[in-house]
Amino acid sequence: MESLTLKSHLPPDFLADALRADVSAGLTGSPKSLPPKWFYDERGSILFEQITRLEEYYPTRAEREILVARAAEVAALTGAVTLVELGSGSGDKTRLLIEALRAAGTLRTYVPMDVSPSALLESGRLLVRDHPGLVVNAVMADFEHQLGVLPVGERRLTAFLGGTVGNLEPGPRAVFLADLRASTAPGDWLLLGTDLVKDPAVLVPAYDDRKGITARFNKNVLDVVNRELRADFDRDAFEHVALWDPEAEWIEMRLRSTRDQKVRVDGLDLVVPFSAGEEMRTEVSAKFRPDGIRAELAAAGFAVRGSWTDEAGRFLVTLSEAR
Ligand code: SAH
Ligand code: AVI
Repeated sequence: MESLTLKSHLPPDFLADALRADVSAGLTGSPKSLPPKWFYDERGSILFEQITRLEEYYPTRAEREILVARAAEVAALTGAVTLVELGSGSGDKTRLLIEALRAAGTLRTYVPMDVSPSALLESGRLLVRDHPGLVVNAVMADFEHQLGVLPVGERRLTAFLGGTVGNLEPGPRAVFLADLRASTAPGDWLLLGTDLVKDPAVLVPAYDDRKGITARFNKNVLDVVNRELRADFDRDAFEHVALWDPEAEWIEMRLRSTRDQKVRVDGLDLVVPFSAGEEMRTEVSAKFRPDGIRAELAAAGFAVRGSWTDEAGRFLVTLSEAR
C-alpha cells in the first residue's frame, strides 16, 4: 500500500496570483512590506533549516527539549488518531510526537500542511521509511486561507510548532485561530508552540546571527520576487535589519535600501522607487506571555489543558482542547 501521498490544494496559479497580489500591495504601500510566507521556496526552506541549527537561534532547541520531555504526556492526553501539522517544514521535531503517539498505539495518519512542496516531500519520504504502517497524507495549502481542506477525523490533534503563529500579526492571528477552531470538532486538540518575551540581547542575535544565514534567508524573498515576477532587485543593494519592538513585543525583520534606486517588477508592470535608508518590512515574529496565549486561545474557543516551558523558560508549548 502506498503510504505517502502529496496533494496540492493551491490554485494552479497560486504563485503567480497570490504573490502578485501580495507584492503589488506590499510594494505600493507605505511603509513597504512583503509577507513572510514567500521566504519558503526550496532555497528558503534549506536556509530556514540552517537557521534552526545556529548557535544564536534557540527556539528550535528549546521546543525540542519540551517535546522530548512531554510528548508521551501529550499522546496520553489526546489519544490522537490523526495528527495534522500546519507549516510542517522538515517535520523534524514532530517525529517526537509521532513516535509517542505510535508507542501509545493510537496514531494512524499524519497530515503535514505546508506551502513548500520540497519540504513536504522530503520529510514525508523519511517518515514513511522510518515508520512502516504510518499513512502520510501531505497537503500543499495555505494555512491562512485553506484550513477547510484538512480532514475531519477521529480524535484530531493539530500541531502548530516553531512559533510560526507569531509570524501572523495580531488581527490576522485572531482570525486564523478562530478559523482553526471552526475547522475542528469539539474535543479536538491543538498543540501550539510559541516563543516567549525575553531580553532583547538574546532575541536580536537570534534574528541577526554572526554567520549571516538569517540575512541570506531575509534576502531570499527578493530572489523569489525576481524569479516569479521578473523583477530586478539587487540583493547587494539591501541590508538585513532585525530589531525588537518593545511595544508590539515582536522582532521585526526588514530590508534596508543602501542607496536611492528604482526596482522594476516587469510581471506587475511596476517601477518601485526606494530612497537610501528606506526600510521594507519582511517579517514580524511575535513573542508571547503565557497569559496572553491563554487569552488568545480562549477567545478563539480553545481551553488550555497543559502548558510547558523548557528549563530556561525561553519557549512555551500549550495543549488546548476545542470547546
Ligand atoms: N514547523 C517547522 C517549520 C517552521 S518554518 C519548525 O518548527 O521548525 C515555517 C514553515 O511554515 C515553512 O515550512 C513554511 O513553508 C510554512 N508556511 C509559512 N507560511 C505558510 C502558509 N501561509 N501556509 C502554509 N505553510 C506556510
Ligand atoms: C518560522 N518562524 C517561526 C521563524 C521565526 O523565528 O519567526 C522564521 C524566522 N525568521 C527569521 N529566523 C527565523
